[in-house]
Amino acid sequence: MNLFPAQPFDIQDIMKIERQSFIPSIQEKQKTFEKRLEVFPQGFLILTDSSEKIVKQNGKALTAGYLCSELWDSMPSLEDSDEIFKRKFVLNHNPAHTHNTNGMYLYVTSFALLRDYRGQGLGEKFFVSSLASICGAFSQIKKVVILVNAEWENALKIYKKVGFTEIHRLKDFFPTLKKISLFKHEMSDGIIMSQNADEFRKINFESNTENPFYGIKL
Ligand SMILES: CC(C)(COP(=O)(O)OP(=O)(O)OC[C@H]1O[C@@H](n2cnc3c(N)ncnc32)[C@H](O)[C@@H]1OP(=O)(O)O)[C@@H](O)C(=O)NCCC(=O)NCCS
Repeated sequence: MNLFPAQPFDIQDIMKIERQSFIPSIQEKQKTFEKRLEVFPQGFLILTDSSEKIVKQNGKALTAGYLCSELWDSMPSLEDSDEIFKRKFVLNHNPAHTHNTNGMYLYVTSFALLRDYRGQGLGEKFFVSSLASICGAFSQIKKVVILVNAEWENALKIYKKVGFTEIHRLKDFFPTLKKISLFKHEMSDGIIMSQNADEFRKINFESNTENPFYGIKL
């Protein structure tokens, strides 16, 4: 498995992972992903499977996961209301309005794997290597920030394991998988977590080249 910077031609593969990973009401739009790639390409990485078996089957390597992010100048303060937090973390926001290449906060906007690749420890490795790569390349980053649905247990396990702690809880932010009628979902909390970027700079990863964004091996 290798980690590469995403390219515009990867968008359809990324949208396939998005559809496998999130219920329709919270899937983000293709336009949002395209904009993320345009605004901060160094913060948008994909995990590819170029094993002989897969290349034989597909005729090419397979995109098995993605992680995208943006850099923020500031975070709402802990005294701020939920409304301010919700506005900042709203899904499908335009990164052109929120991203600043010199920002000190790396906000991981989304992260997911194709179903067939889950449950083998790859999620954690991909997450940590991506952050090691991005935080290594952008020395001004102080904190990594993430928003997670309180019900996404596997993602939460990864974040806690690598030292993320809860800084704020958004009551009833996400629709859950528990439907109360055919069209209506119950709601679940969104947990905002953060961890120091230096923790990821300590990690050594094996790279094919000197370029920190090219071909990291997992
Ligand atoms: C989150 C996600 C990327 C994790 O990928 P993954 O490869 O399954 O994760 P890992 O194999 O590294 O496992 C992470 C933890 O979940 C547990 N886990 C994974 N699959 C599991 C399963 N089917 N049953 C029980 N536990 C499972 C692992 O045991 C591990 O916990 P541990 O360290 O205590 O053992 C993946 O589940 C996914 O794409 N989910 C949908 C999208 C999503 O929730 N994204 C997060 C957005 S914030």
